[in-house]
Amino acid sequence: MSSSTSKSALLLMLSCLIFIEFEFSLASPLLKVGFYNKYCPPAEAIVRKAVYEAVASNPRTAAGLIRMHFHDCFVRGCDGSVLLDTAPGGPAAEKDSIVNNPSLHGFEVIDAAKAEIEATCPKTVSCADIIAFAARDSALIAGGISYQVPAGRRDGSVSLSDEVIQNLPAPFFNVTQLEENFEAKGLSLDEMVTLSGAHSIGVAHCSSFSNRLYNFSATHPQDPALDPEYAAFLKTTCPPPSNSGTSNPTANLDVSTPFRLDNKYYVNLKYHRGLLTSDQTLLSSPSTAKQVWYNAVYGSAWAAKYAAAMVHMGSIDVLTGKVGEIRRNCHFVN
Ligand code: HEM
Ligand SMILES: *[C@@H]1O[C@H](CO)[C@@H](O)[C@H](O)[C@H]1NC(C)=O
Ligand SMILES: *[C@@H]1O[C@H](CO)[C@@H](O)[C@H](O)[C@H]1NC(C)=O
Repeated sequence: MSSSTSKSALLLMLSCLIFIEFEFSLASPLLKVGFYNKYCPPAEAIVRKAVYEAVASNPRTAAGLIRMHFHDCFVRGCDGSVLLDTAPGGPAAEKDSIVNNPSLHGFEVIDAAKAEIEATCPKTVSCADIIAFAARDSALIAGGISYQVPAGRRDGSVSLSDEVIQNLPAPFFNVTQLEENFEAKGLSLDEMVTLSGAHSIGVAHCSSFSNRLYNFSATHPQDPALDPEYAAFLKTTCPPPSNSGTSNPTANLDVSTPFRLDNKYYVNLKYHRGLLTSDQTLLSSPSTAKQVWYNAVYGSAWAAKYAAAMVHMGSIDVLTGKVGEIRRNCHFVN
């Protein structure tokens, strides 16, 4: 065998190894399902109860908790940094970024679960894991989607408002920008399309999409990618920016089943009823459009992909082992 053939054989072997490694890393080897079975067996049940109670009294909470996990994981990894309060005299924390304040919600659910968990097993369960459990429980309540959450995340001690806009995708992003943003977090194009399906529940404020309704571009007052009837409906909710004063109403992200986490989001996109530019843009490139069509037809296949992608998202830059801490109160570092 010439040295170049043996070199390429070695390269092939190596790339297989890398591939296998990647397969495992989708369900991070650092995290484990049932992590608290030994030292805090009721942890997951306590979170589940807190989420059920909160969603029973306000169904909107499910959307808030799913979005909270996304916003935690994309900024400094899933380390509970989104829960930290701005320290007096310190720089603004993530939760005070314009992206999160005032729209991100559900913090009181995490606090309720954490308080009960601390009373049962002090300094054992991280705030980052509580968010991951709460997002999972929300998907079960809102969509009947069930999956296990590998745990063992530890809490970070840094939270900076400036890092939020740098790391989270913006509602006006096109498909290329979305792909790059998710790729930077180790998530595939497919996972980006799959996870966008979370916009099957919840709302967006007019400020996140009214650019599509009024004065869109030099040639189009209204985004041509928007169904005109749907646009007319949205205009009844969102007045032109000049007349809106300080009010900033909301519209459902999924116009057909706004409280059900399901694949109707993708059906809406086919009819040009995606609320955000970042939603509708998924129909604009052949590779993502193919996924949109597929998800629109095969709801249970999408649900399975959603579960797997949430687990993968939940492993982004996690702190484990002796790194980080177990916060006593999710609002403050110890
Ligand atoms: C693909 C890129 C994404 C962009 C550009 C984006 C952007 C947004 C924006 C602008 C809003 C509305 C905020 C407001 O105006 O109040 C929103 C809401 C929401 N997002 Fe995303 N998002 C993306 C991906 C995701 C992912 C991956 C998830 C979770 C897995 C998610 C979950 C949610 C949920 C549940 C809501 C509704 C929140 C509520 O009702 O309070 N989003 N998103
Ligand atoms: C997406 O936006 C970026 C930045 O504005 C731009 O460079 C790129 O050409 C756009 N891509 C598409 C497909 O529109
Ligand atoms: C529409 O946008 C253009 C720039 O794109 C701006 O010059 C113009 O003043 C805007 N018109 C209104 C009514 O806001």
